[in-house]
Amino acid sequence: MKKALYPLLLAAVSAAGVSAAVPVYLDPDAPLDARVEDALSRMTLEEKVAMCHAQSKFSSPGVPRLGIPEIWMSDGPHGVRAEINWNDWGHAGWTNDSVTAFPALTALAATWNPEMSALYGKNVGEEARYREKDVLLGPGVNIYRTPLNGRNFEYMGEDPYLASVMAVPYVRELQKNGVAACVKHFALNNQEKWRGNINVNVSDRALYEIYLPAFKAAVQDGGAWSIMGAYNKVWNQHCCHNHRLLEDILRGEWGFDGVVITDWGGAHDTREAALNGLDIEMGSFTNGLTSESEFTYDDYFLADPFLELIRKGEVPESVADDKARRILRLIFRTAMNTRKPFGSLHSPEHYAAAKAIGDESIVLLKNNGILPLDPARGMRVLVVGDNAVRRLTDGGGSSELKVKDYISPLEAMREVFGADRVEFARGYAAGRPMYERVDTIPQALQDSLRAEAVAKAADADVVVVFGGLNKNAWQDCESTDRESYDLPFGQNELIEALVSVNPNVVVANITGNAYAMPWAARVPAVLHASYLGTMGGASLADVVSGRVNPSGKLPYSIPVRLQDCGAHAFGTDSYPGVESAEGDVLFGVCAPQQTYAEDILVGYRWHDTKKIPARYAFGHGLSYTTFAYGKPAISARELRAGGSLTVTVPVTNTGAREGSEVVQMYVGDDKASVLRPAKELKAFEKITLAPGETREVTFTVTPDMLAFFDADAHAWRTEPGAFTLYVGTSSADTPARAKFRLVE
Ligand code: BGC
Repeated sequence: MKKALYPLLLAAVSAAGVSAAVPVYLDPDAPLDARVEDALSRMTLEEKVAMCHAQSKFSSPGVPRLGIPEIWMSDGPHGVRAEINWNDWGHAGWTNDSVTAFPALTALAATWNPEMSALYGKNVGEEARYREKDVLLGPGVNIYRTPLNGRNFEYMGEDPYLASVMAVPYVRELQKNGVAACVKHFALNNQEKWRGNINVNVSDRALYEIYLPAFKAAVQDGGAWSIMGAYNKVWNQHCCHNHRLLEDILRGEWGFDGVVITDWGGAHDTREAALNGLDIEMGSFTNGLTSESEFTYDDYFLADPFLELIRKGEVPESVADDKARRILRLIFRTAMNTRKPFGSLHSPEHYAAAKAIGDESIVLLKNNGILPLDPARGMRVLVVGDNAVRRLTDGGGSSELKVKDYISPLEAMREVFGADRVEFARGYAAGRPMYERVDTIPQALQDSLRAEAVAKAADADVVVVFGGLNKNAWQDCESTDRESYDLPFGQNELIEALVSVNPNVVVANITGNAYAMPWAARVPAVLHASYLGTMGGASLADVVSGRVNPSGKLPYSIPVRLQDCGAHAFGTDSYPGVESAEGDVLFGVCAPQQTYAEDILVGYRWHDTKKIPARYAFGHGLSYTTFAYGKPAISARELRAGGSLTVTVPVTNTGAREGSEVVQMYVGDDKASVLRPAKELKAFEKITLAPGETREVTFTVTPDMLAFFDADAHAWRTEPGAFTLYVGTSSADTPARAKFRLVE
């Protein structure tokens, strides 16, 4: 022992004393705040500050002297990530950390079923608990603004109401396992390009109407215990220590009592981090002088530099108290929750949940009657496409998963249609899943793979293409955006070539994003699936064969052309932003500026209001049966403040088999003093109907559904006048309409 330590230790030992009484903070029956205050009163300043930053890639310290454990975090959001090394991003190589991969969150959103969201949260929470995680880094609720965003698959689509409804059950059920949700990335992280230092300029109206609601719902209705700051800036200040976002909105307006965690490496300044509402700093490089392998966690902004500011009296100790209080609250809710269940890992129940969510998420975009393919007909099926055999749980960045099992579409198709009836041709090469780099694929290889597929297609009864995007860099992947709206790897040419030799081409693409479909009119059927995890192949084969009747609905619009999307209608200022002449330089890029010029008209709000039809509209999705919407009945023609009215619409299954339909209600303000979207989603319900069955679906309308955000007054406001309710099967197909007036 070093000599100087000896007197310090002696002093500590005599201060601690000896007591047999159980302290309040260790008493699970004591009220949470009493436990927090008791623990805090026993902690030194150094111990409080120590809690505010990482001690490894995915953990932060507790208070060892008091038996208060560390916080262990993991990605998120589609399953629990494999263990990562203590000090670098390498895989730790454990053998007990393979998991169930659940469908991507964009697939969850495509179910339009909050029960699926609850099932998801419960099951992924059980895995996180079993793996002894305290915080699962998800769900992601950033709004889908552009189809080029590499991370849209981790989010819940373009509509704030849909994302809110779907986020809440996930958070609640996850947290029942004593595992905190960490809702990410707060806020306006709607693209990967330049994510580290781009400054987003957005109106308050778009912020409150489009970009904040899902976060607010996750915090207030879901009760999320933590939230992750985004990498980007807004109002020229980084989101991880953005005063307005964290202090004014999150804590002030929403009353958040949880912990703000940085995105990994998202902190940039000690004073701002101290004073602007950040609690735990993760993933920083040090002071820029050392390399990652020489990490000194004491150099973090919220480590020694923070301690120094307090010691010098430039920041009051109460700031550290507030952070420590929040972190203690998180620890009592998770790591020190003695009543949490034990969890479970890759159980049959988890596989069943992943399968059920996947089944409900697949969207049938188009069908001339070719689907479903009945296996009893003994047809010769040619499966084409790299995604038919590729393990799509690899790659993508932080959401990558090490799976125990993975059923590929090809395996599942062989299982359902018979191994001897299913041929395979890859059709195109896509390279290895990598981060920020890609394999170069020789054109000669692409040409020969295509020629092989086309030759086999000529001999098949039906061709099923499992292509789409993948999790490689510049596809659906963290840190890079897509560079084109087209399918990559020559897939457009491949599909055209297949159709020219065989008219029975079913496209069943897997993607976390919209993409151009120039061949849409020439193929008889198109399925749209997201990354469905462990059971994905089984879900796809079951939909293709009709064992499962598709019921997914698009959680985002599929524009015909990229420029038909609002974010892309205003040039580079709007997407991807422009590099500025001055400001901080990150990865060689000088502080880019960006303006969300389409403002509140995101997704279908743009298509509808500007009358630019999407190829497939938000909310669209067919079934193997058909549904008819009857005449709506409205309970009143006038609505007053504090009141409500209802609209009831009969929906009939007019086809020959059972099926589920998502009945959607949109509201439009017929005349307003401000620009309003033509209509906005305000309610939906997924119902299952037997052939011939009719169900009346009733939605309640209240004045708050009619409000817009008045930025000058910083308040939600309604204007009296006429409104239209649009009820139907997608944002572009709302046959049941009713009018009423909002009166003062
Ligand atoms: C991502 C986060 C993720 C974190 C930890 C970051 O690069 O943006 O979403 O949770 O890494 O892996």
